[in-house]
Amino acid sequence: MNKGMDLLSIHELSADDVEEILTLAADLKAKQKAGIPHKLLAGKTLGMIFEKSSTRTRVSFEVGMYQLGGQALFLSSRDLQLGRGEPIKDTARVLSRYLDGIMIRTYGHERIEELARYADIPVINALSDLLHPCQALTDLLTIREYKGKNLAGLKMAYVGDGNNMTHSLMYAAAKVGMHFAAATPEGYEANAKVVANAKADAAATGATVTITHDPNEAVEGADVIVTDTWASMGQEAEHDARTAVFRPYQVNRALVDAADARCIVMHCLPAYRGEEITEDVFEEFAGVIFDEAENRLHVQKAIMALVMGD
Ligand code: CP
Ligand code: NVA
Repeated sequence: MNKGMDLLSIHELSADDVEEILTLAADLKAKQKAGIPHKLLAGKTLGMIFEKSSTRTRVSFEVGMYQLGGQALFLSSRDLQLGRGEPIKDTARVLSRYLDGIMIRTYGHERIEELARYADIPVINALSDLLHPCQALTDLLTIREYKGKNLAGLKMAYVGDGNNMTHSLMYAAAKVGMHFAAATPEGYEANAKVVANAKADAAATGATVTITHDPNEAVEGADVIVTDTWASMGQEAEHDARTAVFRPYQVNRALVDAADARCIVMHCLPAYRGEEITEDVFEEFAGVIFDEAENRLHVQKAIMALVMGD
């Protein structure tokens, strides 16, 4: 990855970029565990714009900047003039005069694209309605830790809503040659353009992208099952209606038993037990799921060091 690059979508990264992020993330994780200083961003400041809630993303980016020797500013849209209607393109140009990088979590993906277009510092997508690339890259690092470094040929199954996680996981899997299958209810499928892009990426790495309404078909032979909330941020009013439709898409004992015997289960969190995942399956795979949460820190430090470092 080049200094100054934005990270808006894994689709825009090369396979080498993904490898570079994962390799550096593993290296920084080892250094942090061993207490070896790695102040790659001394004197640098990251602005963190949040238009939605967050636990993991906020804390891991902020702590990550401190560990890299820099600092982070939490910028809630409730407090910024952005929340009172100041255009995103003006916000981008102002913040570029103070900061060395911007991380943004928002609704419409086009807001992130506009911010990146007008900012002359790197912009990192910390979740939009369309994509959540930092989480999907983290999931690749976590799968490597459990399944070995060579991800090509493994199978990832995603069961649930065709949302930002589905899209970024599809892109991530396709880039590294992992087969990917998504099972979603009718009417809640993944974005068709994202599927087409992922299929093109998969063709280059020998992977396949399968879209189905059948959870059992998706998990057949799967090395990893991933799920996510049935009602994402901004969809709270649809919660009850979605719960009724999504019931057959719960990751439960029977579904895990239909996958490979060594299959692991992952969840980006927050999890809603009794909805997209059962309590017993969640707790059985809690070790993986909380490693996955921890790995946000290491992967984002790698991304920031690559795009904001000297
Ligand atoms: N997985 C994730 O992005 O969590 P937060 O919403 O808590 O940041
Ligand atoms: N799909 C979820 C992911 C949360 C990290 C959401 O957008 O709310």
